[in-house]
Amino acid sequence: MQIPFILFITFLLQFSTTLGKFSKKSNKNIAAYWGQNTMGTQTNFTAEEERLSFYCQSDSVDIILLAFMNMFPGNNSIPRLVFSAGEFSYTYQETINQLETDIKTCQKNEKLVLLSLGGQSADYGFSSVAEAVNFASILWDMFGEDYDDDQLRPFGSAVVDGFDFDIENSNDVGYVELIEELREIIDENGSKDYYISAAPQCPYPADDVVEILNNSYVDFLFIQFYNNEYNCDANTDRFNWNTWASYAKDISKNENVKIYLGLPGSNESAVSGFIDNSTLLENRINQAKKNSSFGGVMVWDASTSFNTTIDDELYIDMIKYLLTGDDKYFEEQSSSYICTETDRCFNQYNHVTSTSEDNGMKQISILYGISPILSGIITFIMFLY
Ligand SMILES: *[C@@H]1O[C@H](CO)[C@@H](O)[C@H](O)[C@H]1NC(C)=O
Ligand SMILES: *[C@@H]1O[C@H](CO)[C@@H](O)[C@H](O)[C@H]1NC(C)=O
Ligand SMILES: *[C@@H]1O[C@H](CO)[C@@H](O)[C@H](O)[C@H]1NC(C)=O
Ligand SMILES: *[C@@H]1O[C@H](CO)[C@@H](O)[C@H](O)[C@H]1NC(C)=O
Ligand SMILES: *[C@@H]1O[C@H](CO)[C@@H](O)[C@H](O)[C@H]1NC(C)=O
Ligand SMILES: *[C@@H]1O[C@H](CO)[C@@H](O)[C@H](O)[C@H]1NC(C)=O
Ligand SMILES: *[C@@H]1O[C@H](CO)[C@@H](O)[C@H](O)[C@H]1NC(C)=O
Ligand SMILES: *[C@@H]1O[C@H](CO)[C@@H](O)[C@H](O)[C@H]1NC(C)=O
Repeated sequence: MQIPFILFITFLLQFSTTLGKFSKKSNKNIAAYWGQNTMGTQTNFTAEEERLSFYCQSDSVDIILLAFMNMFPGNNSIPRLVFSAGEFSYTYQETINQLETDIKTCQKNEKLVLLSLGGQSADYGFSSVAEAVNFASILWDMFGEDYDDDQLRPFGSAVVDGFDFDIENSNDVGYVELIEELREIIDENGSKDYYISAAPQCPYPADDVVEILNNSYVDFLFIQFYNNEYNCDANTDRFNWNTWASYAKDISKNENVKIYLGLPGSNESAVSGFIDNSTLLENRINQAKKNSSFGGVMVWDASTSFNTTIDDELYIDMIKYLLTGDDKYFEEQSSSYICTETDRCFNQYNHVTSTSEDNGMKQISILYGISPILSGIITFIMFLY
């Protein structure tokens, strides 16, 4: 090949690498909870949530929240993780090989992977501050760096990018101190960026995580604007985004905290709050964009937001489109026609139909990670040479 051609390709590839990746300061991120298979409810259990790597193929997703560590500190300080997705319908106390692989796949695709603690179970919480502080190093040993081989490592050699606190059982004891301790360990022993987040329900002042909200330095808040129909749900006039925007500016310990508009991924994934009207969805997102604290949208959960359509587009892609104004996210599902050995195909969704010629072009775009138009240009140039 001739040098100008190589330079040309390199030039094109530089554009492609800036698309669809997590960026801390962006207000266009999508965070998706994964692991609780709410798609099961949606499809009357005829379909299960896909394995994690499936969702990490999508450019629409930027942050994955693994849900949940739902029992801690646990018997003999052994916490419990429960993921009901697919074959993971059991409690682990050993390495989950598929997650070890898939977390790395997600990170390779430049998505953040945080472990979410809490959820609706009430089986967690600390009885003293000392117990909570001690738990920081347990979390680090289980999911952070520099572990010993004899340690319990549910995700093996995969290292998470941080922790999310979805505390919903009205016991706030110790979280502020736990987060402080985690930050100290990370500052001293972490070799990459880690993030701490919390997931309050929308009523404010909050019932849960109030100590974290008032006293902790967190990077993101994934605010649940659902399950609170008579108070603050996103699909009602009581939507209280402005209250949270004020909280972010006036009260949060982190004046640059990013707040996320948390939405259900389908009518079935929450008791209330689902927005089934794209005009309203756009209005909500546009309202949130007006505040500099806005970080993007959180969806509960991955499985449903990839299995619900709105105006004939996947719900998750519609959200990404409304965030970015870029309709390339609608085309993206087509690229998933390529089935690899380890991943399943997206075309079960019948989202895009294509001829085999189209498919050929899309295969090329996968290879280069760029749009079909650019890959068309490259193919044309390759043909000339
Ligand atoms: C869901 O599945 C159950 C058991 O297979 C069946 O009895 C029921 O009719 C189904 N419900 C719907 C709404 O399809
Ligand atoms: C806690 O662990 C001990 C020893 O491993 C076991 O004997 C006991 O039954 C466990 N308790 C509960 C509540 O699981
Ligand atoms: C960092 O790691 C070293 C070596 O394992 C350990 O002695 C030290 O306590 C750690 N720092 C914190 C803040 O935990
Ligand atoms: C949290 O902060 C708010 C606003 O400053 C205050 O009204 C509230 O009393 C605080 N709550 C707790 C539990 O400290
Ligand atoms: C959020 O944006 C709205 C609309 O521009 C504005 O009225 C409100 O003051 C902003 N809130 C904060 C805390 O900046
Ligand atoms: C959502 O579910 C509720 C009750 O489960 C039902 O009344 C409502 O019609 C559903 N809405 C949509 C858009 O499917
Ligand atoms: C969709 O939402 C918009 C904005 O709130 C509203 O004007 C419109 O009537 C809604 N459409 C339907 C079908 O409910
Ligand atoms: C949702 O999943 C079911 C079961 O796999 C499938 O039949 C349906 O087409 C999916 N819907 C969408 C919009 O992806």
